[in-house]
Amino acid sequence: MIQRCIQCGATYPLERVLYTCAACGDLLEIAVDAEDVRRLPTGAASGEVAGGPRPARGPATTLAAGSAGAAGGVWRYAAALPVEAAQAISLGEGATRLHRCERLGRELGVDALYVKTEGDNPTGSFKDRGMTVGVTQARRIGAQSVACASTGNTSASMAAYAAKAGLEAVVLVPDGKIAMGKLAQAVAHAARIVQIAGNFDDAMRLVQELSSGDGRTYLLNSINPFRLEGQKTLAYEVCDTLGDAPDTIVLPLGNAGNISAIWKGICEFHLAGRISRRPRMIGVQAAGAAPLAAFLRGQCREPRMADPETIASAIRIGAPVSWKKAAAAITDSRGSAESVTDEEILRAQRDLARLEGLFVEPSSATPIAWLRRERPTGLGTVVCVATGHGLKDPDAVLREAPNITKAGATLTELRSALG
Ligand code: F0G
Repeated sequence: MIQRCIQCGATYPLERVLYTCAACGDLLEIAVDAEDVRRLPTGAASGEVAGGPRPARGPATTLAAGSAGAAGGVWRYAAALPVEAAQAISLGEGATRLHRCERLGRELGVDALYVKTEGDNPTGSFKDRGMTVGVTQARRIGAQSVACASTGNTSASMAAYAAKAGLEAVVLVPDGKIAMGKLAQAVAHAARIVQIAGNFDDAMRLVQELSSGDGRTYLLNSINPFRLEGQKTLAYEVCDTLGDAPDTIVLPLGNAGNISAIWKGICEFHLAGRISRRPRMIGVQAAGAAPLAAFLRGQCREPRMADPETIASAIRIGAPVSWKKAAAAITDSRGSAESVTDEEILRAQRDLARLEGLFVEPSSATPIAWLRRERPTGLGTVVCVATGHGLKDPDAVLREAPNITKAGATLTELRSALG
């Protein structure tokens, strides 16, 4: 495996610390051989069930007692990852559940609707898939600290994996703009947290300037191609669970790393002959923070938007760093970038919780919001990626008058309160 520029094709060894191409400045990716992908185990990934109870996780990650090394979940796919499983800094990420959602599917007019709950991951979001690989790489290159800008989940995840690895974590977050659960996680894992007087895009610019070329402070935003390698395993898992690729994958789109990672995983499986088709990729942004949707519709000259605003704070991003990779994923898959309003997002979040028992954070409900509004036909088997757990952002559900009634402490009063 090797690092390669997506634009000029320049290549670099895996040990070289780079965040963008040294020759032309564009994004890097990890080039993986089809042979490596063919070596992966076949069959349904363990710990991952469609619609049934979940078997216990394998012992590999929990018995490691402070040491590195892992086997299940993300690390089941180690042969196609750019770091060694024996060196892995792992908390047992991946092997998340894929739920068949019949009740919601009926309401939305989608015959085969699945939701992949990435909130099952150790810190409650998909970021853990990327962070286990990214922090393992940080150790490999001898970093002393790791750094990121974040709307919340990246910082929570990076702080946890840095703690496990014994590295210092530096996180830059937009002041007052991240959900309480995520901030609490970064605090608990003892990260150095700096609230920037600006938005995520300001924090992203600053952390890139802060991260050093010698890797002492190693940048772990999704511009880092090692992160995306971990995140591509979501695609592998979905295909292994379903036995082939779905027809459509719908997911929230913020900094645009995840859609790029998932598409990369799909293309690798396809090239290796493990799936018969490639799904359409649909990225859903919040209407107040939809630079890529506007750009791909030809409404602006670059995917950039000042002062992004939405209740879905995870995707309150105006200048997505990985937009080029995401645009390629969308175009090559004949997909699209869409946007939904905050009202539609909150309704979709309630729908998932009310009809399917799945509590996800607002950003994670954008795919359902889009399906409800558009009611598109001919999508076939649809997998929606619910990227983060609902408990990350309790304020979002509690801000509307909650369904709570008060009653005195007698049965009569209770009965009357219940009507
Ligand atoms: N969903 C959740 C829950 C997220 O936290 C994010 C991004 C996304 C979707 C969008 O993914 O950026 O790869 O397109 N959160 C980042 C963070 C930006 O800092 O936690 P993306």
